Amino acid sequence: MYSNKLGPLMLGLCSRKAPAACMMRSGVSWTAMCKQRSLRSVCVKTQSQTVPCHTSVRAASQTTVDPEEVRRFQSMASKWWDEEGQFAALHAMNDLRVPFIRDHLLNVHTTRHPGKPLAGLRILDVGCGGGLLTEPLGRLGASALGIDPVADSIGTARLHSSYDPDLRGRVCYRACTLEELSAEEGEGEGEGKKGPAQFDAIVASEVVEHLADLETFAFCCGLMLKPGGSLFITTINKTNLSYALGIVVAEQLLRLVPSGTHDWEKFISPEELERLLESYGFSVQSVRGMLYNPVSGAWSWTNSAAINYALHAVKVRDDAQAEQAEESSSHPAAAHT
Ligand SMILES: C[S@@+](CC[C@H](N)C(=O)[O-])C[C@H]1O[C@@H](n2cnc3c(N)ncnc32)[C@H](O)[C@@H]1O
Repeated sequence: MYSNKLGPLMLGLCSRKAPAACMMRSGVSWTAMCKQRSLRSVCVKTQSQTVPCHTSVRAASQTTVDPEEVRRFQSMASKWWDEEGQFAALHAMNDLRVPFIRDHLLNVHTTRHPGKPLAGLRILDVGCGGGLLTEPLGRLGASALGIDPVADSIGTARLHSSYDPDLRGRVCYRACTLEELSAEEGEGEGEGKKGPAQFDAIVASEVVEHLADLETFAFCCGLMLKPGGSLFITTINKTNLSYALGIVVAEQLLRLVPSGTHDWEKFISPEELERLLESYGFSVQSVRGMLYNPVSGAWSWTNSAAINYALHAVKVRDDAQAEQAEESSSHPAAAHT
């Protein structure tokens, strides 16, 4: 799907009420928080550690990991840096997504580092794969942490970045999920500790369509971002066209990608993504359509977000406030008392 060959089909085509979320209260550890809210929330074990999660009115899996997706990306973990290979379109997408991230960040953060405009900013690249996007962000001066549940992809990312001395100490990688990282960082909360909200920006490029639970993702992004921090997402819209061409034609008829590569149910429209993010304390600032030209292998911006799109949101409030707002909207009278 990410190769030039597949681009024409996949890339070219392709609220609910928010759940009450776990609140981070100052001085309350993750574990205590989970115990405190045991009726509404649970802590689940994923891979190596306890992960705090929130309850959802719909059945949330409480981990972002879909084992089938992890297995699929595991099988491609050595291919990330083949610019002509199955990730060619992701390489090409840097022409749009890197300036998109840089320019939005520069609207907020002033810089005095010519050539390193993102110096001093901490960026978390969720689902970084082989580091295709993490590296250019590091070259712009950011301190970038790439995370991915596929350990072999992290191995590829580490190896590749080690060849560039400019990235040393600036880019690093960990094999873990967002929820694991936020649980770990949350345990640092308390006197003298920084707590989890530590990143100026979180990037999840071509990732959300592979997650098992977007609510857990949105919740954890809110925890990991500083107030006013930016969330950048690129993904695929949920349209009839993306089903017809991306799944029926590309996977089932032409077999350009293995059957089952994409789950159309996991695609999300910009409107639904915006609703979800807003319920977790984000304000969406911009949504831009992206178009892939399979002949030139290049991406361009387009007025229509019907196929691929990039979204920028800002964390405007903590989840505690989000929950309060939700309760007020369910009980309007209470809001005035
Ligand atoms: C299409 S690739 C995008 C890679 C990278 N963001 C880029 O654009 O070059 C999707 C990535 O999401 C990762 N992924 C799958 N499930 C994930 C999860 N639950 N949390 C974080 N990353 C996940 C995959 O391992 C894979 O590296």
